[in-house]
Amino acid sequence: MFEAERRKFLAQSGLGLAGATGLILRADALPTPMIGSAEETNRVLIQMAPPPKVEITPNGELKKVTPQPYGPFYKPGAPFRGKLSLPGEPGTTFVLTGRVWAFDTKRPLPGVVLDFWHVDAQEKYSDGVSDFRNRGRLVSSETGAYELESIRPIPYRPNAAGNPDFWRCAHFHLLAVCPGYQPLVTEIHFQDDPQKKDPMYRAENAIAAEKRTVNGRSFETGVFDIVLEREKSTR
Ligand SMILES: [Fe+2]
Repeated sequence: MFEAERRKFLAQSGLGLAGATGLILRADALPTPMIGSAEETNRVLIQMAPPPKVEITPNGELKKVTPQPYGPFYKPGAPFRGKLSLPGEPGTTFVLTGRVWAFDTKRPLPGVVLDFWHVDAQEKYSDGVSDFRNRGRLVSSETGAYELESIRPIPYRPNAAGNPDFWRCAHFHLLAVCPGYQPLVTEIHFQDDPQKKDPMYRAENAIAAEKRTVNGRSFETGVFDIVLEREKSTR
């Protein structure tokens, strides 16, 4: 019973994706450690364990993420999953990975809900009502890690008819929510973007896209670490 619930949770949250895609999961990846009985470990997986006490950032420093506005295309209620695009969807397959960190403790944050959304290869967002293509939520793991597969967002014209010369730089939108921490809304940009003249482009939020081939499949990948700040006390 409990094992079935755990599998259902993993399937819904996307935490089981890496094993299913075979793209990133390394042969030397460590299993989740058992904490007491199997049932206790399962409960920890669902409730998310506290971050490891000993682990801090390598140099003890964290760079805050520059916030960005939601923009007009956010829709609540995206499904929990680790693959945001449809199978065979046009575009360059992109694997985005990273870790979520607490700025105050310099330690990983598990159980953070990460909501991503981006355009398709036709410069369009799905409606987020009946169609959730290129939208999805993930939960950071017990080590604060996350991984998603989608297509690489492209630059787009928000008003192609009225202002065809105005281009937004390519970006993943991101909303990160964790109890006790300030919600973070931002955009993840690309260092090799051709539309860096977009005034919203932020070099500090730009990732390096790396071309890779695994199991005969070519894709691009990038790493973006998310840093959350403590909620301000109202007292
Ligand atoms: Fe956007």
